[in-house]
Amino acid sequence: MLSFTFLKYMDVAPRISGLLSQRKCSGLPSRCASMFRVPFTADRYNVRRRDYAKLSEDDLRVFRDIVGDSGVVTGPEDLEFYNVDWLRICRGQSTVALRPKTTQQLSDILKHCNTRKLAVCPQGGNTGLVGGSVPVFDEVVLSLNLMNHIESLDTVSGTLISQAGAVLETLENYASERGRVVPLDLGAKGSCQIGGNVATNAGGLRFLRYGSLHSNVLGLETVLADGTILPFGTNMRKDNTGYHLHHSFIGSEGTLGVITQVALLCPPKPSSVSLCFLGLNSFEDVLKCYDETSKALTDILSAFEFLDTECYTTSYQEHNVSPPLKPFPFYVMIEVSGWNAEGDTNRVSSLVETLMNKNLVIHGTIVNEPSHMLSLWKIREGVAEALTRRGYVYKYDLSIPKREMYNLVEDVRKRMGSSVESCSGYGHLGDNNLHLNIVTKDYYPEVTKQLEPYIFEWTRKHKGSVSAEHGLGFKKRNVMQYSQSPQAIKLMQRMKELYDPNGILNPYKVLPDSFPS
Ligand code: FAD
Ligand code: MLT
Ligand code: ZN
Repeated sequence: MLSFTFLKYMDVAPRISGLLSQRKCSGLPSRCASMFRVPFTADRYNVRRRDYAKLSEDDLRVFRDIVGDSGVVTGPEDLEFYNVDWLRICRGQSTVALRPKTTQQLSDILKHCNTRKLAVCPQGGNTGLVGGSVPVFDEVVLSLNLMNHIESLDTVSGTLISQAGAVLETLENYASERGRVVPLDLGAKGSCQIGGNVATNAGGLRFLRYGSLHSNVLGLETVLADGTILPFGTNMRKDNTGYHLHHSFIGSEGTLGVITQVALLCPPKPSSVSLCFLGLNSFEDVLKCYDETSKALTDILSAFEFLDTECYTTSYQEHNVSPPLKPFPFYVMIEVSGWNAEGDTNRVSSLVETLMNKNLVIHGTIVNEPSHMLSLWKIREGVAEALTRRGYVYKYDLSIPKREMYNLVEDVRKRMGSSVESCSGYGHLGDNNLHLNIVTKDYYPEVTKQLEPYIFEWTRKHKGSVSAEHGLGFKKRNVMQYSQSPQAIKLMQRMKELYDPNGILNPYKVLPDSFPS
């Protein structure tokens, strides 16, 4: 007997921004920073410092001349934010963070660092999940925080031009007020910056609808390691004048140059949005549900996310949200957005009815009032933070064909048994993107040895990618070969040498420590 109950809150047609502007990422997980001290990355993960110069008093004087006293951060307490990553698993030892306000200042800083052979770690909102945004040793932190001016939005073409340090949520609000939507949305939107998003080629919740940043970034201004300022292209949607160089910076994670300005294509803003939160009995049913949904709602589908019961429970408990549904093995979130509030709602209701009749969905809720959608999204977007409150998180962000995706979670759960606190899966099902998270009370290198290379080999065997959307940064730099050929890795090394001959930009990140022969 099916026990489906619609909890319908359909009296108010919500605006997308009304919901999203309330979502916040605090920058640091609310696990209190003083709870434990994060060990130095170099010690915890056994890394050797490369041959860079050491910062001197003269260097500090040069930096003060360029950005003024207020742009040079040196106090150990103030540096804590710049040295420790969001997951609190990496800690650098930098003694200076610089905060330029203009591209020219940033260029002057890089010119000096390159001449002196001082290593540099570019940093945006510091919400990255692979340890790429914080130094490993004493790299100079180059923060984009103060380069946050939004220049313009052409409401006819939808082209938004902004400095790289603008916070994603601020951009979202700016675009929304002008009838447009930023084609990217993630749980870290309250802290991450558009430059950091481009540097990581972030995916997130709207990827399914709007595609990759490779199709939405129209142009960039970047600064190379030697200080050369590079404006690219025309910011026109069609521009085939030569190699598409700006694409090499999308996803380069601060290793090829620093992004200082972004031109982004912002589509028209939908006027109505609805969200379903559904309980299902098996992953097989999740797949069938996706199949039905993608056929029925293709033109208005804006997110299709899944969570297993472990993620669901951890998230609502840690965030004190009352659970919308009773326990199920799996949950699915389907968001649609369009311009026909009544019509779209009817289509969603009729789909859910069909899914119920086929016994694919057992229980669920459909909402379109902003505060209700917000609390449902909180459960999904809060998983990352909730898990960090339970201990050390071994994070894997994988692309895997949908059919096989959850087999990996089950295999790893079986392999690890009771040696770990939990092993759970969630993610962007519509994009074949699984987030596999294993939690232990503290960091144990022997657990890593059980997980790796097992997970990477499993992923390669199923023709997936070992980094779907988070990048490689520091934590995943030595596993690139599971998804890239030796020839491709060598070409990347040559690109790095071309763009940054002294190797000062974000060392120990992205490229593997040793190269395939
Ligand atoms: P940072 O973390 O500061 O830096 C990330 C990398 O980019 C570093 O290597 C840094 O050196 C480089 N970088 C930063 N700014 C620049 C610049 N201007 N020029 C050159 N290099 C630069 N990611 C997803 O893809 N999808 C998600 O759904 C998603 N959800 C998240 C949810 C939460 C709660 C959190 C904490 C993170 C999430 N992330 C997600 C990861 C992260 O938010 C993204 O990678 C984001 O794009 C990073 O932006 P940032 O400004 O914080 O960059
Ligand atoms: C998400 O989709 O929630 C993010 O990518 C963060 C994570 O993987 O935990
Ligand atoms: Zn994600």
